[in-house]
Amino acid sequence: MRALYNFAASPPNLRFCHSPYSLSTKLPFLLLLLPPTQFSSLRNPISRQNSQRPSSCFSSGSVIRASMAASTPPSSGTETETKPFSVLFVCLGNICRSPAAEGVFTDLVKKRGLDSKFKIDSAGTIGYHEGNQADPRMRAASKRRGIEITSISRPVRPSDFRDFDLILVMDEQNREDILEAFNRWKFREPLPEDAHKKVKLMCSYCKRHEETEVPDPYFGGQQGFEKVLDLLEDACGSLLDSILAENKSI
Ligand code: 4NP
Repeated sequence: MRALYNFAASPPNLRFCHSPYSLSTKLPFLLLLLPPTQFSSLRNPISRQNSQRPSSCFSSGSVIRASMAASTPPSSGTETETKPFSVLFVCLGNICRSPAAEGVFTDLVKKRGLDSKFKIDSAGTIGYHEGNQADPRMRAASKRRGIEITSISRPVRPSDFRDFDLILVMDEQNREDILEAFNRWKFREPLPEDAHKKVKLMCSYCKRHEETEVPDPYFGGQQGFEKVLDLLEDACGSLLDSILAENKSI
C-alpha cells in the first residue's frame, strides 16, 4: 500500500500558501528530520510538470447521485436500494479538518436516524500521519460541541475513487492533489473514467459562510479549530440535505 504513495524520493513540494499560517519556513526543516518514507504523498513532482490542471472538470454546489452503478456490475434492485451512500472527506494530513468533517457529518446522520444509509470516512493527501488519531486540539474542540472524532489517519488510495460516491475536499490544494493522483492512478488500474466528478469543495455547501475553503488550522491557535467547526457544521447540514434531495431512495 505504502508503495503506492512513494512516488517522490524527495520531500513533496507542499504548498501552504493557502494557509493563513504559512509553513514555508517551518516545514522544510521539519521534513529534513524525518526518514524519506515519511514524505510519501500523492504528489508526483515529475508528472506534475507535464500534467494539466483539470480545473475545468469540477462542478460545485450540488451532489451527484449515487454513482456506484457506474463502477460496479448491474445488480438487483434490492441491492441497489440498500447500498449505503458513501462520502469521503479529504484534507492534507487527515488529522484536523477531514476527521472533524467525518465527525460532524456522522453526528448529523445519526441524529436523523440515517446511520445505516451512509458510509462515511476521511483520508489525507499525504501519508505522514498515517495510523495517528486526530490532533488533540481538533478532538477537544469537537468534543466541546458534543462531537466525537474517532478516525485514524490514512492516505487517500486509488480504490477511494471506486468506493465513494462523493469526495469532499477542504481546500483547492487538496483538490489539485487528489485530482493529480487520480490522473495517474487511472492508467494503472480500472477506475471510473468520470470519478473526478465526485470531487467537490466542502465550502461549496456552506450557506451561512462566504469562505470558499476550510482553512488549515494546524499551525494556528484555538480560533482556527473553532472556525473549522463553524464551516463544517454549516456545510454538513446542506450537504446532507442535497444528498437526500438527489437520492430519493435514501
Ligand atoms: P489537516 O491539517 O490537513 O487539516 O489534517 C494538517 C495536519 C498536518 C499538517 C498540516 C496540516 N502537517 O504539516 O503535518
